Amino acid sequence: MNISKVCILGGAGFVGSTLVSKLAARGIHTRIISRHPERHRNLLVLPNVEIVEADVNDFNRLSYYLHGMHAVINLVGILNDNSLDGSGFRKAHTELPKLLVQACQKHNIKRLLQMSVLNADAGTSPSHYLRTKSEGENHLHIFSDKGIQITTFRPSIIFGPGDNFFNRFSKLLKVTPLICPVPRANCRFAPVYVGDVADSMIEHLFNPASNGLRIDLCGPNTYSMMEIMQYTASLMGIKRKFIALPDRLSLAMAHMSDFANSIPLVTPMMNWLIPGFEKARFSVDNYRSLLVDSVCNDSDTQKTAIEDIVPMYISQKHNQRQYDAFRNIVRRD
Ligand SMILES: NC(=O)c1ccc[n+]([C@@H]2O[C@H](COP(=O)([O-])OP(=O)(O)OC[C@H]3O[C@@H](n4cnc5c(N)ncnc54)[C@H](OP(=O)(O)O)[C@@H]3O)[C@@H](O)[C@H]2O)c1
Repeated sequence: MNISKVCILGGAGFVGSTLVSKLAARGIHTRIISRHPERHRNLLVLPNVEIVEADVNDFNRLSYYLHGMHAVINLVGILNDNSLDGSGFRKAHTELPKLLVQACQKHNIKRLLQMSVLNADAGTSPSHYLRTKSEGENHLHIFSDKGIQITTFRPSIIFGPGDNFFNRFSKLLKVTPLICPVPRANCRFAPVYVGDVADSMIEHLFNPASNGLRIDLCGPNTYSMMEIMQYTASLMGIKRKFIALPDRLSLAMAHMSDFANSIPLVTPMMNWLIPGFEKARFSVDNYRSLLVDSVCNDSDTQKTAIEDIVPMYISQKHNQRQYDAFRNIVRRD
């Protein structure tokens, strides 16, 4: 199968940016569909990249931009849903793959990669996030026997510059001066590097034998939530007393966060006071996702460890801030 033009939904996000730059380096033409193309103009410095504006949930617009493409990669995903009843998760994770597969059929596109998440299981997963991801995945895999080659990727938490994991914790540590409560402190993760995720996706994109596969992706080591928080603080060179929050309190905190978020203007105001507040929000659905460890079997592990990469963006940022503060003190620009 000739694959030289690939359309990527959600391609301007954290994983998408890495994937697009690796595809560009291989001379693949990528068309990113984004709701806000103007925010991602930096990607246009890459060769063979175009960014078009569309709401991917609008079938006609989606279909219009799939015309002429050889493959599609769906990276659209949300961690929080303001509706609280899961309808936002369903729209993004379950309904969108249904539209996408119809649009692929219309344009005779025979290769589709879907980004899901480790532990996604429509029957048993405790959160809307995990269940709806699985529903989308299951729907697509019906078509792997019907002429469209489908491969799904199921990573644990993904790290790398610009991630919403270590960066989120470093923001959190800044606003918890002395004592830092840690919800689900024993929950374990196998963080996987964004570059390894992108490499795996590209390798499978060109491999017809990947049709029908659901590929779990994990990093080489596992860590508890508590260990991750302690590691982040150590990289930032700050001291905090970490306390494992009992589950009842974690859940109460998550309910409070959802309640605050449901009051109009609270989230925009908090975002204004604490930039990135919304992304650092800990919802009830996040809490439920943390009820299961996010780890794979050894056979699914990727090579890069957090210790190889995370210090470069977490400690550097902190060192830069210290340096800026010092420059302010001596009044040098
Ligand atoms: N990061 C992780 O640790 C992790 C772990 C496991 C699985 N995943 C999955 O990997 C995928 C990529 O994650 P990421 O970290 O790169 O996320 P991201 O940076 O938030 O990018 C996802 C992109 O999806 C688009 N999007 C979000 N909500 C949408 C909506 N309601 N309708 C239409 N488009 C929407 C956005 O594109 P525009 O704003 O440009 O329209 C966004 O840039 C997601 O499916 C996620 O669930 C991520």
